[in-house]
Amino acid sequence: MPALFTPPDHFRELTRAEIFPDPTRPLEIDLGCGDGTFLTGMAAHFPERDFLGVERMLGRVSKTARKIERQQLPNARIMRLESAYTVGWLLPSASVSRLHLLCPDPWPKKGHATRRLVNQNEFLDGLVRILIPGGEFLLKTDDRPYFEDALASFATREHQFKRVDWPDDAFFYPSTDFEQDWLRMGRSIHRARWQLVER
Ligand SMILES: C[S@@+](CC[C@H](N)C(=O)[O-])C[C@H]1O[C@@H](n2cnc3c(N)ncnc32)[C@H](O)[C@@H]1O
Repeated sequence: MPALFTPPDHFRELTRAEIFPDPTRPLEIDLGCGDGTFLTGMAAHFPERDFLGVERMLGRVSKTARKIERQQLPNARIMRLESAYTVGWLLPSASVSRLHLLCPDPWPKKGHATRRLVNQNEFLDGLVRILIPGGEFLLKTDDRPYFEDALASFATREHQFKRVDWPDDAFFYPSTDFEQDWLRMGRSIHRARWQLVER
């Protein structure tokens, strides 16, 4: 199975088995996975789960694919596509156990806030569609306005998502490349975790 995953059809919902062969295994998505450090770290640590990275920049997709191949991880793949479309329309319904959005582009300019994924109904409705009952959305960002937008968006969807604690020792969760850079620069990281309310 190649590390690079290319959807057989970009205009319909994928089936779970098209992404990884065994549809009974938990599937986790790393949106905007960058160079794939977190993705491959998680895949190596949790061989019983499957991990799909989504990234739109070709150079980062290639780096991630090389990391997957070098580490011989059959449970990790990378797809070159846009995040909102992937979540809104492409990933299979009720298939994802955890979706990670780590250090997303902050879109700091006034007037660009609508580009933040957490402000887009296409993304939020898609999240409801693709998560399994009890599935989770995990967000980390150094950008306070982005974080506040996320809190506000999810506050309007309390019938769909409940916020759950995320203590330091909750589970294995390697830091990402950007997170390490931001921490080195003295910035703080905000994080939150929401669970899809059982339907
Ligand atoms: C700030 S970097 C963070 C990378 C990685 N998650 C980390 O924490 O090290 C954001 C990444 O998301 C990707 N990205 C931004 N918007 C995207 C979109 N709409 N669809 C897919 N990838 C996107 C960028 O190309 C970039 O690699």
